[in-house]
Amino acid sequence: MNIRFKPLKPTKNLVVFFDAKKHLLLPEDWPKEWTQAWKNYLKLPEIKGESSGVHRLFGELSERVYLVGLGKAPVMRELGAQLGKQLQQTEFSDLALALPSDRKHPISNGFEAFLEGFFLARYRYQEYKTKDQPKDQLKTLTLLAPKSKELESAGQKAWILAEATNEARDLCNRPGNLMTPTHLKAACQAMAKSVGLSFSALTETQMAKEGMGCLLGVSKGSEEPAFLNILQYKGGGAKAPTLMLVGKGLTFDAGGISLKPAANMHEMKFDMCGGAAVYGAMKIIAQLGPKVNVVALIPSSENLPSGSATKPGDILTACNGTTVEVQNTDAEGRLILADALAYGLKRFKPDAVVDIATLTGACVVALGHYHSGLQSSSESLAKQIEKASQQTGDPVWRMPHADIYDKDLDGTVSDLKNIGSKGAGMITAGLFLKRFVGKTPWAHIDIAGTAWGGDRIPFYPAQGASGTAVRLLAELAVHFKR
Ligand code: BES
Ligand code: MN
Ligand code: ZN
Repeated sequence: MNIRFKPLKPTKNLVVFFDAKKHLLLPEDWPKEWTQAWKNYLKLPEIKGESSGVHRLFGELSERVYLVGLGKAPVMRELGAQLGKQLQQTEFSDLALALPSDRKHPISNGFEAFLEGFFLARYRYQEYKTKDQPKDQLKTLTLLAPKSKELESAGQKAWILAEATNEARDLCNRPGNLMTPTHLKAACQAMAKSVGLSFSALTETQMAKEGMGCLLGVSKGSEEPAFLNILQYKGGGAKAPTLMLVGKGLTFDAGGISLKPAANMHEMKFDMCGGAAVYGAMKIIAQLGPKVNVVALIPSSENLPSGSATKPGDILTACNGTTVEVQNTDAEGRLILADALAYGLKRFKPDAVVDIATLTGACVVALGHYHSGLQSSSESLAKQIEKASQQTGDPVWRMPHADIYDKDLDGTVSDLKNIGSKGAGMITAGLFLKRFVGKTPWAHIDIAGTAWGGDRIPFYPAQGASGTAVRLLAELAVHFKR
C-alpha cells in the first residue's frame, strides 16, 4: 500500500473522525472554512456522540466525506469494518484520512485496527463475475496529519494483515475445479517466492517412500495428485523457538465412498480453509519478520468416490507405522493431518504444534458459526492461542480435552479406527490427531463452523470464505513462547 502524508488538502474520498462530545478530530491548522458544514451536521440532535458510527456527507470540498463517530468505547476494527462495508461497492484508488495532530490521542492507537477492519470488510469475491469486474483498486492512502513513522507503519501493518487474509479468502472461494491440490501447491510456491519463504512439496512418489499411507489412502479415489506442501520461515537462530502449523488442504470433500448427501455438497470446496489460514499466516509472518522459526505443512488432496477409492473397512498405515481402519471415508481430514503431523514432528522437532482444519460437523453442532473449537494438551499454548484470538477478533472457545474418549478410537482389527462411537465428535477427532503428536505441546483448532458465512462478525464477509484464524495464527507466531 502506498502511504503518503499530505497536509491539509481536500480530496475525493475523505474520512474525518469525531469524538463522543461531537468534537471533530483534526490537525491543529485545519482551515476553519472547510469544517463549518461538518460542524453544522454534528449539531443535529439525532447525531448521538456516545455511540460510534459512520455518517456519509455530501460535501462541497470532497466528493465523499465520511464522518466517523468514535463514541464512548469504540471497537476500532469493527468501526473500520462499518466504513469498509459502506464502501464495498464504491470504487476508488485513493482514500484520505484526517487525523488529529496529537499523537497521544486514542485514535492513533486504534488506527491500525481501524484500517485492518476497513480493508477486511471491503473484500468481495468477484474473480468469475465477468460482467462485474472492479475497474479501480485502492492503491494509495493519504494521511492528512503531520508526518509520523508510527502512523505509517500502522497503515502498512494493517495492509499486510488484511491483504494476506483476503488472499487466503480468494484461495478458499475458488471452486474445486480451479483449486486442485496442484493449484494450491502453485499458490504456496508463488507466495513463498514473493515474500522470501522457503518452499518444498512432497509428491505422491515421495510420500509413498515416507510411508504416508493415510494421506495417500484419501487421495486414492481422485485423478488429481496429492501434495504435502512445506513452507519455512527462519526468523530466529537455533536457540529461538520453533512453532509448527499444520492446515487441512482438502480441495474438495465429496466424502469418498461414504458419500455426502447432495444438498450443500458444493460448500465442501471450503475444506481447504485450514490450509489457507496457514498460508495467509505464513505470508504475514514473513513480512512482519519476528524472531521465531515457523514451519508450516499443508497436506492437500481431494476426497472422491471412484473404483480406486479407499473403502470402508480398509486398513491404512501412517508414516509412523500406526495402522488405521477406515470405518468412514468421510472422516478423511484426520487421515491427511495424521501423516502430516507425524512427518513434521519427526523432521522439524518443533517446540509446539497447532493444527487447523474444517474437521467436523460435530464442531458446528456444538459451537455454531461464531467460535472456532479449540482443544489443547498444553495450558501455555492454549492461553497463547486465546490471547491471540482476543487480539485479532477471530473467536475461539476451548473444548474439554477429555482424554476419557481416547479409548473410543482403539481399533479391533487395527491400532486405531478413524471415527469414535458415542458423541463428542469434535473431541474424538482431536484425540485422533493427538495420537500422532506424542509429547509435543499441541493444539487443534476446528474451523468447520467459522471458515465461511461470517455474517456475525463485521469484518468477515457475509458469504463465502471468512479468512478466520489467518491473523490469529500470525499473531500467535509473532509472540510465540515455548
Ligand atoms: N470436511 C468435513 C467436516 C465438515 C462438515 C466441515 C460440515 C464443515 C461443515 C469432514 O471431512 C467430515 O466429513 N467429517 C465428518 C466426520 C464423521 C464421518 C465422523 C462429519 O463431521 O460428518
Ligand atoms: Mn469428510
Ligand atoms: Zn473434510
